[in-house]
Amino acid sequence: MAESSTPAYREPSVATLRHTLPKLLKNPLGTLVGLADAAPGQVVQLNLGTIRPYLVVEPAHVQHVLRDNAANYTRAGDSMLWKSVKKIAGDGILAEGPDWEASRRRLQPHFTAKRIDAVVDGLSRAISDAVDELNAPARNGEPVDAASEISRIICQAVIRVFFGDKISVADGVRIVAEQNTVATALRFRLLIPFLPDAVPMPGDRALRRAVRNIDTIVLPLVRAEQAHDDGSDDFVASLARGRDAHGHKLDEQRVRDDLVSIFVTATETTYTALTWIFPLLEQRPEVAARLYAEIDRVVGPGDVISHQQLGELRYTRMVLDELVRAYPSGWLVPRTAIADDLIGGTRVRAGDTIILSPYVTQRLARFWDRPTVFDPERFAPDTPRRAHRYAYYPFGGGAHQCIGQYFFQVEAPLIVATLLSRFRYRLCTPGMPSPRLAATLRPGERLPLLLTPHRQPALA
Ligand code: HEM
Repeated sequence: MAESSTPAYREPSVATLRHTLPKLLKNPLGTLVGLADAAPGQVVQLNLGTIRPYLVVEPAHVQHVLRDNAANYTRAGDSMLWKSVKKIAGDGILAEGPDWEASRRRLQPHFTAKRIDAVVDGLSRAISDAVDELNAPARNGEPVDAASEISRIICQAVIRVFFGDKISVADGVRIVAEQNTVATALRFRLLIPFLPDAVPMPGDRALRRAVRNIDTIVLPLVRAEQAHDDGSDDFVASLARGRDAHGHKLDEQRVRDDLVSIFVTATETTYTALTWIFPLLEQRPEVAARLYAEIDRVVGPGDVISHQQLGELRYTRMVLDELVRAYPSGWLVPRTAIADDLIGGTRVRAGDTIILSPYVTQRLARFWDRPTVFDPERFAPDTPRRAHRYAYYPFGGGAHQCIGQYFFQVEAPLIVATLLSRFRYRLCTPGMPSPRLAATLRPGERLPLLLTPHRQPALA
């Protein structure tokens, strides 16, 4: 058993079913933050009847689970999130154990800063082309749906740089739609996690159908790549040519799992995060004004943003750092304890569910000044360093740290700056939507936007 930073034994703070469940069902995230704020330095046990997961939010405790004693905390346990992720992403990088390790080894080289920097121009061009499609609705005064448009732009970008345009954007958008079905199907199981798998829930059938539909798109692509090696070195081709540790050709299911894992993580997390930017900027006009001023200074009318311009978008990056503090799409990072352990002095037993949540930690009042205020200044270069590395971990940590973090940090400013250099927007339904509990953190309501052209050379 490994010891954590607090050696003395400590009872967890217990939140009981009778008090907690109604609040959790009504306002899950606010309730979790409230419980954590009320128990400084403590692990919180959520006493939900037959299951009693531990909410672990103190940065030192998060570090213990994700890094210092990570070997004791697995994704291959009973947690609903990972069981459901497995249904869609299979036994690849989102799994655990030797399959995860092999997959991580295969995929990691494609996500180094060097590899991503090399595709910035192609990525920026793909984003620019995708944003161009908003010219017509902007000209005609037709509202567009923020989430659908951001997800289409991301799909086009990801398909261009990782899939070498080998699937159509229409198929990419279909995969995202199927993912949405999966993310929402999970909703019921995340809300009522103590229900056994055998109890059917709304959304289960939709989940199975969504996975079948994704396979109809991805498997033929994998088969075609494996049958005809044309020597190309894009992501799909190099995965399809991949070999396992014994030098054997990877079977099609492994390649499928890697491709689907990357496609879903690259699209879902980014578009759910970026969708929040529209209501947030409306809430903070002074942040919006500063962001617009930077973008207008750095990006000329109609520009495809260059690598150098990207480097000059400093405030844009601060806005995005703050965005994933306040609305981290990976809000829930569960684990299952393999053996008994102490977390911050609290005993957890083999088989217990541990709930980590970047959302909750990144809103703890004792680590963040005015945590509910959207304030990019927290990430200004001259702001003192945070009290603890794990007070801010939107991209996780330890061996499972997000492999797409650098890609996000390049792609997201390109999307925001391309869009806002060409358009201004108004939300048709003003106000801040509440988050909706799903596998990722998404706005609970649709966000229709009215775009108006801004400084464009001449709209086609
Ligand atoms: C706002 C954007 C993103 C957020 C907030 C985010 C968050 C996270 C978090 C919290 C983890 C850790 C999961 C765990 O410990 O179990 C993770 C892992 C992962 N992320 Fe991201 N991510 C984002 C973007 C991306 C992108 C763009 C990609 C791909 C291009 C990506 C691919 C992955 C993969 C493959 C893993 C699993 C790594 C492993 O277990 O070895 N993510 N991400």
